[in-house]
Amino acid sequence: MSRECIYLQAQNLKCESLRLPRGLNQLSPVLSWGLKGKGRMCSWQIIASESKDNVYQGSGTVWDSGVIKDVCCSVTWRGEQLLRDQRIWWAVQVWDEEGQSAGRSEPAQFFTGLDEDDWQAQWVARYFVLPSGREIPQDNHYDNRFQARPADYLRRQFILNAVPVRAFVYVSALGLYELYLNGIRVGDEVMAPGWTDYHRRVEYQSYDVTDLIASSKNIIGAVLGEGWYSGRVGHNQRRAGNHYGGRPGLMFQLHIEYADGRVEKIVSDDQWSTKQGPICYSDFLAGEMYDARLELVDWLTSEYAEDNWQPVEVYSPEPNAPLLDASRADGVKEVARLEATSVEKSPSGEFIYNFGQNLAGYVELKVSAPRGTEIRIRHAERLDEKGDLYTENLRYAVSEDIYICKGGGVEYFKPHFTFHGFQYAGIGLSEAVSDLSVSAIAIQSDLPVSGKINTGNAMVNQLLSNIFWSQRGNFLSVPTDCPQRDERYGWSADAQVFWRTAGYFMDTSAFLKKWMEDLIDGQSEEGIFPDVAPTKPLNPYRLTPQPGAPAWGDAPIILAWHHYLRYADVGMLERCWQPFIKWMKVIESKNPNGIRVNDVHNNYGDWLAVGDETNRGLINTAYWVYLADIMTSIAKALNKDSSSWSALSKKLRNVFLEQFVLEDGSLSGDTQTAYLLALDFKILPQNHVPTAAEHLARLFKSSNGHLQTGFLGVRHLAPVISDYLSPTQAIDLLLKDTYPSWGFSIKQGATTIWERWDGWTPEQGFQSKVMNSFNHYAYGAIGEWVWARLAGIDWDEAAPGYSNVKMSPIFDERIGFVEAEYEACTGLIKSYWEMNKNNPEEVSWVVELPPNVSASITLSDPWRFQEEKDFVLTSGTHSMNIKIYKEK
Ligand code: BGC
Repeated sequence: MSRECIYLQAQNLKCESLRLPRGLNQLSPVLSWGLKGKGRMCSWQIIASESKDNVYQGSGTVWDSGVIKDVCCSVTWRGEQLLRDQRIWWAVQVWDEEGQSAGRSEPAQFFTGLDEDDWQAQWVARYFVLPSGREIPQDNHYDNRFQARPADYLRRQFILNAVPVRAFVYVSALGLYELYLNGIRVGDEVMAPGWTDYHRRVEYQSYDVTDLIASSKNIIGAVLGEGWYSGRVGHNQRRAGNHYGGRPGLMFQLHIEYADGRVEKIVSDDQWSTKQGPICYSDFLAGEMYDARLELVDWLTSEYAEDNWQPVEVYSPEPNAPLLDASRADGVKEVARLEATSVEKSPSGEFIYNFGQNLAGYVELKVSAPRGTEIRIRHAERLDEKGDLYTENLRYAVSEDIYICKGGGVEYFKPHFTFHGFQYAGIGLSEAVSDLSVSAIAIQSDLPVSGKINTGNAMVNQLLSNIFWSQRGNFLSVPTDCPQRDERYGWSADAQVFWRTAGYFMDTSAFLKKWMEDLIDGQSEEGIFPDVAPTKPLNPYRLTPQPGAPAWGDAPIILAWHHYLRYADVGMLERCWQPFIKWMKVIESKNPNGIRVNDVHNNYGDWLAVGDETNRGLINTAYWVYLADIMTSIAKALNKDSSSWSALSKKLRNVFLEQFVLEDGSLSGDTQTAYLLALDFKILPQNHVPTAAEHLARLFKSSNGHLQTGFLGVRHLAPVISDYLSPTQAIDLLLKDTYPSWGFSIKQGATTIWERWDGWTPEQGFQSKVMNSFNHYAYGAIGEWVWARLAGIDWDEAAPGYSNVKMSPIFDERIGFVEAEYEACTGLIKSYWEMNKNNPEEVSWVVELPPNVSASITLSDPWRFQEEKDFVLTSGTHSMNIKIYKEK
């Protein structure tokens, strides 16, 4: 056995929740790590230095914490005062009670980034902007039906006369950028710098480019696209683009350091020039048109002559220059490449490539064709009855990429500043081509995958895969509702119902920290949280979503609490406390009598539910109770006085009882969602709970065991059924494959979660084209229960951040086995159970817990381990034979 397995070691080092922060927004970052190996950690030492070698050698030139007696795996920087434009390497060593250790961890790094005052660069953009914000097309070629701008190519040459020892670049854009240094692409992010409210904040990225710099002539190239800044996003066709401004701009600062300590800076300024090139337009909703005949051959080399390039304009973005923020989350990257599972000619003559998986991303082509050949790539999630692409549900999104070949050999194309939601790509050719190959590339914010799960039931596995892919396709800089139609907003209720699920599959910690800033940026003066974030600042036609709907406006509070339970991140609670109080005060001031019916804005209710509508006053008031309870818990976690919040929740519970509970114990409106919320939010007094559960059971019986919820009820279905009815009934629901159910969509070929239970049915065909996405994660909220209960890896509210795990797995023959591995912030937790095939009364269960982590086990009846129902496991591996308990 290797030394590492025997003793303790720190792993998964994070700084501000990131593997590699590319800048810090304040210079006292939180460093954290997980543990592996055996034993109990009781002390640690951090070594940090600007040199990786120093860290390897144990020399902490900027911080040597010494050996600290402490069991906590998270610490705020206490080393030397950090400076800007630094790269810090750090490592941790941990010891057990006997003083044993497997040695120092692998070093991790972080960049300190720039402060506002460190930016000497200026915003630069292409000239010739009309007051209306649209550029006069320079050439008819660029005049397109979307009025989308061609991409701007920016270039700057500089000469060095010494070899630098270090070069760091800081870059951002209002719009999207691709950056090149001496012909090499810098970084591998796409859609950078990501989406924020650009009137307030824009994020920057930083890269170590030392290896790309030449000691003589150097060429910087940047390509700018419109993205969320000036391109089209959302469903407001009267204000299709220009949400934040009329043209993209670049911010660039390169720090070049020489051996003698001298630092030279190359910045975006009037020394740059610009031209338009082959990207005729590239827009999220329209797609991209790329004319390879217009390529600026060799523009990234120093031999290139800048004919017809114009000087850039140095300008101040309107209405004000945004704050340059270090990026808080992982950038969007290409994360998977898929080859077609079939290619067929459609009735309308396109070649339809089926990638077997609905995804967000784009297609890459390899082709040899005569000059001028036009290749059209259309995208769709489904095919229609005739076998053509079904694109009606894209609404105004055109989602078509056009590539015009330059001829003369093999050519490659993938679009630059657009993405589509699709499983099928239809290729239309203006003439015959040779050697066409087509692959799909999936993109997403590159969050670390934290969970792997597999079961003995194929349908459940497909469901888990569908959930994962819907998360993947919608975690794209912000958590969006859908990646295909003219929407793609960060809808907040979708996210809050899905967040617990999301956190099992991927490490959502940094991603939420970033989005929480967007949500707070979107909070009104009065305190109303937005329904979508980032919000679009300009809303003259009031066609974009209003803020403050119950369950939508409430999302930040729920998200922050779930984030705290998963990651024990008190910092997030502190950050949000005042904004949360503001929102709670708004709700209270508008609804003094405790029934939440006033100022409920778009009041969406149990969105897209089937069956009877749930009383919206009940939903809203239930959510208010939930918020009051969370505020009570947050106050306690922050060591603040929680009494006013607990008093509020008490008052609201009474109002709920009076207002919505009828004489026979049923709830007003009598729908599944009403009972689900009342039970899961624990609103009802104990003596009302059994009756409410009976009513819920009655409703399930009358719907033949089918669910009838929309977005808000769905999260509570399986947890409430397994806790208040029976675990077996929860599995019945999970395994249903008749309408409406998850299994039903899977039977219709779903590879992601559908927006609607009846997105497509054999009887009705497609649901209304107005609202019918096939990649919408909200109904994937069942995932949290699969992880927490079926696999048995639940968090413990009394021990946030998985320092104790609550384990109550549900064993069921129809599932057969579950193999689940979850990389918690404390380390890897495994739960493997398998029914004995020869004896249905026996299950083997293996639990693995990382160092310093315990588990509280409660077996559900009739299962027992050595006749015990409740017991505690300590860290390490435990193999148990679980049996059905029989009275002796
Ligand atoms: C979005 C949803 C969102 C909803 C508000 C829809 O258009 O796609 O996911 O939550 O509006 O009800």
